Amino acid sequence: MPKISLGKKKWNKAPQATKQRTSNYAAETRLIYGQPFTPVWDYSHHVVPPLSSSATFRLDSTKRGAKGFVEFAHTAEDFQVHSKAPIYIYDRLGEPNKEILEENLAIAEQGECAATFTTGMAAISALCGVLLGSGSEIVAHHVLYGCTYSLFTNWLPRYKIKVTWVDFNDAKALERAISPHTKLLYFETPVNPTMEIIDIQKIVAVARKHNAQRSKAHRMYTAVDNTFATPFCQRPLELGVDFVVESLTKGICGFGTDMGGVIIGPRWSYDQIVLYRKDFGGVLPAKSAWPILVYGLPSLAVRFRQQIETAQKVAEFLEKDKRIQFVRYPGLDSFEQRTLAKKQMQNYDGEFSPGTILYFVPKGKTPDERHRKAEKMVNFIATKSYTITLAVSLGNIRTLIEHPASMTHSSITAEEQLRRGIDPGGIRLSIGLEKAEDIIHDLKKALEKIL
Ligand SMILES: Cc1ncc(COP(=O)(O)O)c(C=O)c1O
Repeated sequence: MPKISLGKKKWNKAPQATKQRTSNYAAETRLIYGQPFTPVWDYSHHVVPPLSSSATFRLDSTKRGAKGFVEFAHTAEDFQVHSKAPIYIYDRLGEPNKEILEENLAIAEQGECAATFTTGMAAISALCGVLLGSGSEIVAHHVLYGCTYSLFTNWLPRYKIKVTWVDFNDAKALERAISPHTKLLYFETPVNPTMEIIDIQKIVAVARKHNAQRSKAHRMYTAVDNTFATPFCQRPLELGVDFVVESLTKGICGFGTDMGGVIIGPRWSYDQIVLYRKDFGGVLPAKSAWPILVYGLPSLAVRFRQQIETAQKVAEFLEKDKRIQFVRYPGLDSFEQRTLAKKQMQNYDGEFSPGTILYFVPKGKTPDERHRKAEKMVNFIATKSYTITLAVSLGNIRTLIEHPASMTHSSITAEEQLRRGIDPGGIRLSIGLEKAEDIIHDLKKALEKIL
């Protein structure tokens, strides 16, 4: 192959989203504008970034085409992809809409760079693919979103990657679970669906302590799934975590129209992640990147501020009802981990932002009784409620209800669910933009008729 120059340093770099001059402006304002002078695409005649709808890109010479490819012409070991090229060849290698979105997501999470994927699960599996190999181990919190649990139990072991489950709030158990092969500490906070909080800084400290004894090649990484909180409520990278993964399908998209996922992490990881994405192929389509860029991210703050206020009112209502065994919402005074939640769940202005999701259980003496009541209540709401929809997903402007034990977390056996703290009667409620009074009205109707 002829030797091809990669050209000037200007584009031979991973993105530096957080260090541009826009950093003088409030983070919420930057969610709207991102990087207005992005080298990714000159759209200075548009107010809104145009939708790029082209699977392949016109090239004026083979030399230019080869320049675009040479960026990826490396093995996974030498990690020299140097993407962010202004040469677009083919959507799977790179395309402007998702790259602008990535710059903005890096700003939102206060990270160095971001890479998007088709879904949240594609992002989580890509992070595992990049960081882990045969013989390496993950230590994961014992409750995770059902499909992440399924990925970790059904698929990773086939590649000889071992997963050890442990309660991350039990420091001694966590220490015991870490072996010399542990490459990744993985958790969600708040945890889906139980709303437990995990102290991010404590987990980071554990990893740092181990890494002090390890060579760079054997470093252990930390990753947080920030889907429940979104960067509006919590920015784990600021607390020292190496990687954030999240489903863009949820609070960041917000309107329930598109799927997507993202990994946000250190600059050094960018080349490997986009090389992995090119070869495994889970790229975010431009047609999904665009609404998230144009509607989702810019409206995140205003939606979440309102949804959090409503979630607080709904949680207080449910908590007072005698037919409810318990409600878990970090904004409640009764929330067991409120001090920790207050410390790490803060919006860009440092205000406590407990999120938009609540978890509650109808009263019942036995797990079976609670399960039965939860099913009845959710089924009643599914057909009789105007403001609450029975549907999985969350972070939507419409209030969504679901029953994790039989739906999102059904990949975990019933016995394991009980052992890991997922109550068979647990109901997950993701609060939308409806008036709090209307959501409460519909919940009250269900409680009166059913419980
Ligand atoms: C916490 C969490 N992480 C990841 C995902 C997966 O996201 P996606 O559906 O976009 O693949 C979900 C989906 O519900 C989730 O709740």
